[in-house]
Amino acid sequence: MRNPQLTSDGKLKHLLTIDGLPRNILNQILDTAESFVGVAEREVKKVPLLRGKTVCNIFFENSTRTRTTFEIAAKRLSADVINLNVNTSSQAKGETIMDTIDNLTAMHADMFVIRHAQSGAAHFIAQHVEPHIHVINAGDGRHAHPTQGLLDVFTVRRYKPDMHNLRVAIIGDVLHSRVARSEIHALTTLGVPEVRVIAPKTLLPAHVEKLGVHVYHDMKEGLKDVDVIMMLRLQNERMNGALLPSAQEYFKCFGLTQEKLAYAKPDAIVMHPGPMNRGVEIDSAVADGSQSVILPQVTYGIAVRMAVMSILAGNS
Ligand code: CP
Repeated sequence: MRNPQLTSDGKLKHLLTIDGLPRNILNQILDTAESFVGVAEREVKKVPLLRGKTVCNIFFENSTRTRTTFEIAAKRLSADVINLNVNTSSQAKGETIMDTIDNLTAMHADMFVIRHAQSGAAHFIAQHVEPHIHVINAGDGRHAHPTQGLLDVFTVRRYKPDMHNLRVAIIGDVLHSRVARSEIHALTTLGVPEVRVIAPKTLLPAHVEKLGVHVYHDMKEGLKDVDVIMMLRLQNERMNGALLPSAQEYFKCFGLTQEKLAYAKPDAIVMHPGPMNRGVEIDSAVADGSQSVILPQVTYGIAVRMAVMSILAGNS
């Protein structure tokens, strides 16, 4: 079956998930992002690649990093940017999501960046928009957060360029995490040989090993000799029922402290997609410590999102 996010000649039309995207497209995005890192260092932080285009950010769920970096990225590409405030839009009066999209299309929108609590929302919109419009999934339910996965592997590649010789551990609430799924697909597609997940059994999806990961339930064993540590937030808003005894007990067993960090390689980097629950999944001493690359991740998100939008616009 044809991948719905690719054109008939294999180019990126929408970005909905990393699952099924070929390695050459991931590398095209990462290499293009590399060329945009320097734009932030210029006095005039703009390139004209999206001049005359209109990008609509529609976030049905809260966001700090993703929404803001998409806006900065679109502006650096010289696009006109609309940030639809869903709470004050006609959605609040009962308008359907597709009627909202159709109305913004009538205003000549060229690209939609969508965050939604329901898995599949961005796919649904991509199936219904006019052929010249591009859709980017900015996080849908527990399904996918492809630009987060891409910015995470971009960060890994910057600090640990030999991707074919890495051990990566993803720690925490994999069950509810769209970020974890996108990270796993990106890392395995790019040829990282060993991806581990470390979590209590209650926070792992059934048959998670089918994604190509090694499963650990103990931080000492799981962190041994890893190069990259990717922490995950406890997604309390997506949990049905009590999956953990308490946040304190979780921190004791799975929270990343300096003591547990010492199990990894001495030059291991620590990542977190944010927002962080300090004292729940990560200790402040680690989050703000010398091995943390959590804020550079955010900065690289701009270059990666510029890359995605410019590639999509170039494939119109
Ligand atoms: N990582 C991430 O998606 O953060 P926001 O929810 O702030 O966008």
